[in-house]
Amino acid sequence: MQIELRILRFDPERDQKPHEESYRVEAGPMDRVLDLLHKVKYEQDGTLTFRRSCAHGVCGSDAMLINGRNRLACKIRVDQLKGRRITVAPLPGLPVMKDLVVDMDSFFAKFRSVQPYLQADDPDPERERRQSAEDREVFDDTTKCILCAACTTSCPSFWAQPSYVGPAAIVNAHRFIFDSRDDHAADRLEILADGDGVWRCRTIFNCTDACPRGIHITQAILEVTSKIVEHHA
Ligand code: SF4
Ligand code: F3S
Ligand code: FES
Repeated sequence: MQIELRILRFDPERDQKPHEESYRVEAGPMDRVLDLLHKVKYEQDGTLTFRRSCAHGVCGSDAMLINGRNRLACKIRVDQLKGRRITVAPLPGLPVMKDLVVDMDSFFAKFRSVQPYLQADDPDPERERRQSAEDREVFDDTTKCILCAACTTSCPSFWAQPSYVGPAAIVNAHRFIFDSRDDHAADRLEILADGDGVWRCRTIFNCTDACPRGIHITQAILEVTSKIVEHHA
């Protein structure tokens, strides 16, 4: 079938502002939006710029706004989208560098700010740090994050206040705050109790709807918020 792909384009060396360009591509029902972007780039316009690496929903590099929703271009198939016209734009709320590529520096700075790594105070054991299956289960969901930014850039609280640390950083803080082997949960709770931390969440749920990994993000944010209240009680 013929699909019209309408892509928001922007070249900082040439354009004052973004503009839409339309491309007609032949697509099979099993083609993904990423396949259509490749067809445009390889067959019609080599200047089209977008990120992708794994092409299988693992690396998180090709999140973009597809038919008005943040999704991974490599995971959404043409037959999952209604109609023969598909709109594609960069993730909202981050500066556009070129076409579908946004500047992720501030996103990764927020991720780093919550200390997303294990910090155990006792000396390293000779072998691995053991953990029961029950203790592992507590944070299993938040280990699934691939840092695609679909959640943070779909959050109206982030759009309104870009200094908000955002759901992705909170998810990654959750993963270590609830890890029984870690001794520095209190440091992360202090960081997230800040004015740009968890209190900016208004439980809007866009983040949860956008997550390609199906992480229960809003629930994780509420669990971290409860922990902060407990910590300050
Ligand atoms: Fe992407 Fe989900 Fe991680 Fe957010 S929580 S960055 S949507 S994988
Ligand atoms: Fe935003 Fe998600 Fe909270 S959309 S307001 S971080 S529930
Ligand atoms: Fe890696 Fe889509 S290209 S997640």
